[in-house]
Amino acid sequence: MKFYDSQYVKKICEITRASYQHGWDERNGGNISLRLNEEDLKDYSDIIEVKKTFNLGFDASQLAEKYFLITGTGRYFRNVILQPSLDLGLIRISADGKKGELRWGFEDGGKPTSEFPSHLMSHIARLAVDSKQRVVMHCHPTNVIALSFTQDLNERHWSRLLWKMQAESLVVFPEGVGIIPYMTPGTNEIGIATAKKMQDFRVVIWPHHGIFGVGSSLDETFGLIETVEKAALIYSQIGAQGGQIKQEITDEQLRKLGEAFDVQPNSKFLTNY
Ligand code: 13P
Ligand code: ZN
Repeated sequence: MKFYDSQYVKKICEITRASYQHGWDERNGGNISLRLNEEDLKDYSDIIEVKKTFNLGFDASQLAEKYFLITGTGRYFRNVILQPSLDLGLIRISADGKKGELRWGFEDGGKPTSEFPSHLMSHIARLAVDSKQRVVMHCHPTNVIALSFTQDLNERHWSRLLWKMQAESLVVFPEGVGIIPYMTPGTNEIGIATAKKMQDFRVVIWPHHGIFGVGSSLDETFGLIETVEKAALIYSQIGAQGGQIKQEITDEQLRKLGEAFDVQPNSKFLTNY
């Protein structure tokens, strides 16, 4: 079977298109990586040959011999569905963790996303706390970015604000959201800061830029980002309606949500009552 026809390529095509349609990926904004096992790849005959190798620029030995299906740098999410074998690449991390080996894709000379180090560092951090970890997704959701200009960059404040915008938020991200300071994209430094937050959170806000989300599947990760952005959108709409909040979801109601849906809200972000 050809890897082009795999469920993994199909699903990334669907998710990149949906993300673009949500307005989260202008131009080449955003990138995705999906971790795959040898077992997931055993039916594909066209991923054996190493087509190219490149330096990763950091020690990824914790991911040695793992595979990642990723988007290319400079590629438009809008187009991935039209030309997946150009805009996507399947990369195997070398046994010494220093190199990436291109096994499929990037057929017109494409290269991995500039955020590949941040993705790999986040995979490492999440795999340490969740063996099901498979996906890292970065994109530029409008209302989340807007919020990073109008709100203090404080995790407790953001988590509470987003939880209180809709009943669904606390159920989907009971641990709240992590935030790093504004940093230059595409650097190892932003990757290190993001991965540190990923020890405690599945969502990390990049102020004035976007969001990093992680999860066990593309659907789950997309849904996580979608829920955060929906909460931020509701906040924007409240502003559009005059900004006055007459009633809110209380902390007691948040605790009850946690009980009802069997999730543990981050107690540091709730007040005692
Ligand atoms: P890439 O085109 O390198 O994936 O970069 C897009 C982006 O969103 C950078 O943060
Ligand atoms: Zn970006």
